[in-house]
Amino acid sequence: MMTRTPRRAALCLLVVLVAAGHRATRAAAVTLSTSSRWVVDPAGRRVKLACVNWPSHLEPVVTEGLGRQPVGAIAGMVVSLGFNCIRLTYPIALATNTSLSSLTVRQSLLAHGLAETAGGVEVNNPGFLDLTLMDSLKAVVNALGEKDVLVILDNHVSKPGWCCGNDDGNGFFGDRDFDPDVWVDGLGNMATIFADVPNVVGMSLRNELRGPRQNPEDWYTYMQRGAEAVHAANPRALVIMGGLSYDYDLSFLAARQVGVSFAAECKLVFEVHWYSFSDARAWETENANEVCARAARDFERRAGFLLARGFPLFLSEFGGDLRGGDLKGNRYFPCAAAVAAEHDLDWAYWALQGSYALRQGVAGMDEVYGVLDWSWSKPRNETVLPRIQALQRPIQGPGYGEALPYTVLFHPLTGLCAAAAANTLELRPCNETDAWAYAPPASTLVLRDAAAAGLPCLRAEGRGLLARLGAKACGDALSTWRLASDSGMHVAVESPPGLDSGGGGMLCLDVGADGRSIVTNPCACLRGNGTCDPERQWFKLVTSTRRAARRPPATLA
Ligand SMILES: *[C@@H]1O[C@H](CO)[C@@H](O)[C@H](O)[C@H]1NC(C)=O
Ligand SMILES: *[C@@H]1O[C@H](CO)[C@@H](O)[C@H](O)[C@H]1NC(C)=O
Ligand SMILES: *[C@@H]1O[C@H](CO)[C@@H](O)[C@H](O)[C@H]1NC(C)=O
Ligand SMILES: *[C@@H]1O[C@H](CO)[C@@H](O)[C@H](O)[C@H]1NC(C)=O
Repeated sequence: MMTRTPRRAALCLLVVLVAAGHRATRAAAVTLSTSSRWVVDPAGRRVKLACVNWPSHLEPVVTEGLGRQPVGAIAGMVVSLGFNCIRLTYPIALATNTSLSSLTVRQSLLAHGLAETAGGVEVNNPGFLDLTLMDSLKAVVNALGEKDVLVILDNHVSKPGWCCGNDDGNGFFGDRDFDPDVWVDGLGNMATIFADVPNVVGMSLRNELRGPRQNPEDWYTYMQRGAEAVHAANPRALVIMGGLSYDYDLSFLAARQVGVSFAAECKLVFEVHWYSFSDARAWETENANEVCARAARDFERRAGFLLARGFPLFLSEFGGDLRGGDLKGNRYFPCAAAVAAEHDLDWAYWALQGSYALRQGVAGMDEVYGVLDWSWSKPRNETVLPRIQALQRPIQGPGYGEALPYTVLFHPLTGLCAAAAANTLELRPCNETDAWAYAPPASTLVLRDAAAAGLPCLRAEGRGLLARLGAKACGDALSTWRLASDSGMHVAVESPPGLDSGGGGMLCLDVGADGRSIVTNPCACLRGNGTCDPERQWFKLVTSTRRAARRPPATLA
């Protein structure tokens, strides 16, 4: 599945080792490269990008949050929440307009009427107030570096301001504020300025290309130029390219590959975005299994195929309203998380910021997608954090053991995984899960370590009853599990007549009323019905090759 010609892979590795040797005397710069679809360190071990977006591209060009909390405290929260990386946004004007980049933080905030934010910076980050905007950005990057947080610099817009609209002048090469020559210069300047900053590992060329001018021809012309400019200035950096239509669409790459002079150095990564609002009506009105299946197929078509072509794919924006009241988001997020887990994607959650100094004319605007609360002092919603954090850990890729592929039962709604507890199952953190053997489209679900003996297998016992591990009649109707809905996430048995299955004839894995145990219940809204929510019954069978953590073997009845 994720193979590539050994010759190409060997070539990349050689280049990486030579480069690493060459730089051995320098400070410990983190140099990342690609090895087929993985991002790897100089030793060839996978580094999974588990990032969160942090903006510096709005009108004041001051990194958000500096008026709310000390930068070191923010960096500390990034780490304690489990992220290893920041996608840090900036406007190209910061790198091309010296009358902008030489403004101080104080001057820029006051020019935008943000005296209160300036006061907040004075209290929380006094050293920043009289730094230039460029030096302020550098200081943020350094503060992240002190906590070993990797940084990907993302050119989000040309002209500072909220992104994005079809006709905001920042959408595509040739738009009012998007002169390709200025942009290439800006990328080169930015790459040069940060070339020696150890924790800057990648440069995202441009966020969300879009609008009436967009076309693949110009995409190749200018993205290749931008990539060359970045690589020439900082050959260490990953070069990250996004697609058309708000970075929803990289499908044109199926027909024509990118041509860059540095292909052999294995630095090229693609990025894609995925939100609920591009299919808002479908998520709100149609059956969630059917919409999820369609959206997942669409993800393959627009970007997922690049993995099999041997490129890392960075899901550099996804996220939703963390307050829980948004129907489309509640259905979309576990679906997107299942896809991200299935492919073990590199990703960046949108977003870190709990609030903005100034967004779309509103001072102090709340960010309901933000992992931090409005004051940037604590997580916005502890309950939903595990949904995001579950995706942080690599489950495949080089450097994490050589285990034969096994199946993990991932429950995206909680971010937990099903694991044996005596002869029943419970939801546990996915780092403490079990290795299962499963063969689609229908088979037993067997704990792999017990599989040699063919035992024990998971059985349904009836409506509302705990699913149990047992040796009884493995392979009969009640222990033959199939994926019963289009989403592929209803794990179900046919229930024979006489067993109380609630009438539907099928029982699906579900979470018990205690929120922890795994039971079986009548399968919820498998298809058709758009008014009910099946997400609680969604278990994604994810393939892992990571050496399973040792935990006490389950006592089997
Ligand atoms: C450069 O930045 C300054 C300060 O924000 C602004 O007034 C000016 O219009 C910018 N110049 C260009 C060419 O965008
Ligand atoms: C946190 O998320 C849960 C689940 O979506 C929701 O029920 C709860 O109201 C949210 N809490 C806050 C404080 O937003
Ligand atoms: C699994 O992760 C949790 C935190 O999510 C941690 O408390 C626990 O120690 C980890 N277990 C193992 C076996 O690493
Ligand atoms: C759709 O699901 C809702 C909520 O579970 C239920 O009340 C309704 O009867 C279902 N409609 C159909 C046509 O099955």
